[in-house]
Amino acid sequence: MTSNSVKGQPVQDFEQAFEELTGRPAEGVWAAPGRVNLIGEHTDYSGGLVLPMALPQVCTVAGAFRDDEQLSVRSRQLDSDAEVYPLDAAPGAVEGWAAYAVGIAWALRRAGHRIGGAELVLDSNVPIGAGLSSSASVGCSVAIALRDLYGLELTGPDLAAIARDCENDFVGAPTGVMDQAVSMNAKAGHLYFLDTRSMQAEHVPFDLDRFGLTLLVIDTRTAHEHSGGGYASRRQAVEDGARLLGVPELRDVAPADLELALIRLDELADPAVGRRVRHVVTENARVQAVVEILNTGADPRQVGPILTAGHESLRDDFEISTPELDAAVAVALQNGAYGARMTGGGFGGSAIALIDTDRRDEVTAAIDKAYAEAGFKSARFFSAVPADGARRLA
Ligand code: GLA
Repeated sequence: MTSNSVKGQPVQDFEQAFEELTGRPAEGVWAAPGRVNLIGEHTDYSGGLVLPMALPQVCTVAGAFRDDEQLSVRSRQLDSDAEVYPLDAAPGAVEGWAAYAVGIAWALRRAGHRIGGAELVLDSNVPIGAGLSSSASVGCSVAIALRDLYGLELTGPDLAAIARDCENDFVGAPTGVMDQAVSMNAKAGHLYFLDTRSMQAEHVPFDLDRFGLTLLVIDTRTAHEHSGGGYASRRQAVEDGARLLGVPELRDVAPADLELALIRLDELADPAVGRRVRHVVTENARVQAVVEILNTGADPRQVGPILTAGHESLRDDFEISTPELDAAVAVALQNGAYGARMTGGGFGGSAIALIDTDRRDEVTAAIDKAYAEAGFKSARFFSAVPADGARRLA
């Protein structure tokens, strides 16, 4: 299904901008969303479970062929000039956001798909650096644009894998597949429950409105960066933990075996490894518990305490929270939130809080006040509504 506007901006605006900037008509317009993760953090590189949703905020790409084996990319959001790269640009050769576009062409070609050049104009309303997967939305929107321009027979899950390859092997950020998978495959009104081992997915209904609830996103406006050391060192600890326990992935550690596993790790490794393992194993169980509750059609308020437990685990065991994220969670809970947690990769970015819709102003005012008192940058707020994944708009 196609819709002909992006948050009220008609698709003709993107076509017109393309024509003004490139002097030729667009052959198509595509969009892919950012995401917010309800629960299932740092589980997607050890075969674990995740439960994100796509946001209405999208990266939009207007595009047309080029017959010279080059990819031209420019961003209206950043008001940038066109940057032109050969299709055979190597990993490391492209800096900044453009790497997420050029890397898609690279990953498609590495996987044996025949594509030529393209002229691409991007625009996005996904907040950059907020931990809401603005980069995955760039990769996924370019991926569907190139798929359609070159008539490739690739499914959403195929393209999610291509976009993950781009991020891992071209950009050099050792992430899992959650962000790309939800950006490609999500369904409006639903969470995207993904088993990252089997890649089996299920759309779990998530209608907060019916219960008078809002999922408030609190963007702390503090940096996060996944090609930096923090994310990679956590991933390393998770992989070390699995190796020391003699299992292929931490998904193989059942919650019932956790205590024993921790005793073994205590003898073998730095205590931090045990804490990282405990986070991942308990987080998989939390995702499962949340899905079970939501699938019964129960009041989503019931999942609140599980979300908060997830925050405590990320803060104390995985050690990737920040004072801003902890304050957002604590203040939301003090002001009636049913549950709250940091979301995404950590080290900054956004928190979420499950609140009564009619208490939204109270919660945001309390966070504003606490942030001002602590001398933090003021936060930005919006309500997350589950939206569709990547799609062609025109
Ligand atoms: C980032 C990565 C994801 C995932 C999350 C943490 O968003 O891109 O693959 O690991 O962090 O859950």
